[in-house]
Amino acid sequence: MDSKRALSVAVEAAMAAGNLMYRNWRTQKRVNAEAMHDIKLELDERCQEKICKILRSVFPKVAVLGEEGTVGDPLADERWVIDPIDGTVNFAYQIPHACVSIALQQRQGNEYVNCVGVVRDPFCDELWTAVRGKAARLNGKKIRVSQRARLSEAVVSVGFAKYDENLKKMLPQLEKLAPRVRKIRMMGSAALDLVYVACGRMDAYLESGVRLWDIAAGAVILESAGGEFWHRALPGEHTYHIVANNGLLRPELERVNQGESK
Ligand code: IPD
Repeated sequence: MDSKRALSVAVEAAMAAGNLMYRNWRTQKRVNAEAMHDIKLELDERCQEKICKILRSVFPKVAVLGEEGTVGDPLADERWVIDPIDGTVNFAYQIPHACVSIALQQRQGNEYVNCVGVVRDPFCDELWTAVRGKAARLNGKKIRVSQRARLSEAVVSVGFAKYDENLKKMLPQLEKLAPRVRKIRMMGSAALDLVYVACGRMDAYLESGVRLWDIAAGAVILESAGGEFWHRALPGEHTYHIVANNGLLRPELERVNQGESK
């Protein structure tokens, strides 16, 4: 598929879903399902439908693997990976930190490569885009990761995925990291964490148990901005441990995690 065309259709879909989110920012949301650390909204489904309609009207044969379900063969050579609302709990509580995340993946052997990424934050009117091999952009302007090479000056975001086992993994890391970094942040949207690292607002982002649709678009945007998207698959479908950073901080992050002193 032509990446330029894919990017422009993904942008159209992300803008449309973002507008729907924005219009519903301060409304009481209809909840479809609730768990201890998770909420599913009726609007998640409506946003995904809107995105699928736009993507499938132009590329009817390309599959969609989405947080709210799949269309077509999710193991096809090309597939869209979408999170219609990333940061659902924020959005449900009317906290304006949530976004639309759309990636195009292509199969290479047994792996999928993120080729196009679009992240739309309708609340700040920000749009991050990338096509693999080209510069990442925020609202059309090229972006780069930060140059901060010391943890002591870094702002590091930590995500807590949806299950208690993820909390158990991340809490000890948080305890070790917090005294060593300038600030820890817990923002509640993995896609926005990744693009914030991509444009140098933050320096690293860690999470265990995050899902593919939360991170696929942000990953290609981060890498296109010069950052490092280190990740390892975990048991469970489309589930990862990630250490995203500006390309300079992983050795120090790993040392802290292994319990070495500064
Ligand atoms: C969640 C957010 C959150 C992250 C969770 C994700 P959702 O996605 O990205 O920041 O910590 O792991 O599941 O449910 O809001 O789309």
